[in-house]
Amino acid sequence: MRQIAHLSDLHFDRIDPVIVKALIADLEERKPDLIVISGDLTQRARTHQFVAAQEFLSNLPARHLAVPGNHDIAPFFRPWIRAFDPFGRYRRYIGQEMFPTFQDDEIAVIGLNTARPYRWKEGSLSPGQVEAVRRTMGKLDPGLFKIVFTHHPFLPPPDSPSTPLVNHARSSLRVFESVSVDLLLAGHLHRAYIGDVTRHYTAVKRSILVAQASTATSTRLRAEPNAYNWITIDGPRVHLQANSWDGVRFKGMEKEIFVKRDNLWHPERVSEAFGGME
Ligand SMILES: [Fe+2]
Ligand SMILES: [Fe+2]
Repeated sequence: MRQIAHLSDLHFDRIDPVIVKALIADLEERKPDLIVISGDLTQRARTHQFVAAQEFLSNLPARHLAVPGNHDIAPFFRPWIRAFDPFGRYRRYIGQEMFPTFQDDEIAVIGLNTARPYRWKEGSLSPGQVEAVRRTMGKLDPGLFKIVFTHHPFLPPPDSPSTPLVNHARSSLRVFESVSVDLLLAGHLHRAYIGDVTRHYTAVKRSILVAQASTATSTRLRAEPNAYNWITIDGPRVHLQANSWDGVRFKGMEKEIFVKRDNLWHPERVSEAFGGME
């Protein structure tokens, strides 16, 4: 069994310090095997914001993988840096790796940087990035649970189907399907929802689950509380759950369970909202 905490859209400089502290304490108690951070670590890519994000990362109680978000690109008012070294500060303070990976005997995880200086809103994937996923995941044991995470989403919220999605989502998904990616994690919209890409892309036949995360720590809320995703991979089952801030603590909300049968993910049951940790 593996447990992953998926955080997104931290937005240092626009954070609630009480929530940041509670999040670290919550993660210390839950003890995830891995922490995945899907971008927007800062508010405006300023040095002091990256320093604050770096300190947060140093306090995490487990190994983490991260990718940048559009807010982590050098800002508009520094056009030369934005054009020629858009991720300079991200690399310096957060990490050099723009293709972070993790693999053990149960899971394989790849992060892809979808933030682009000239595609601020929807982001993009390059053919090289998609090919790297094909090459890396295509040779893995088919029994591994495979995760790809990005900042920009592949699946719109159920109530907003025309939401802009990451550029080249459709062609990328065909490749992800061919190498049996099981789960996509992303953020950017500051909204938490769970789905399956086959709901939106009829050309994709093999189900790929999606878990979108709200903002974990920021005051930039979109009519939803702060939350992060708690993912439990347990043999042929995966549990997807948002842990949501209730003003005092992070509380486990509605959980969705999927089971893999014949290489497809099927919803098993949806439990009632329940309080506290499992
Ligand atoms: Fe964000
Ligand atoms: Fe974003």
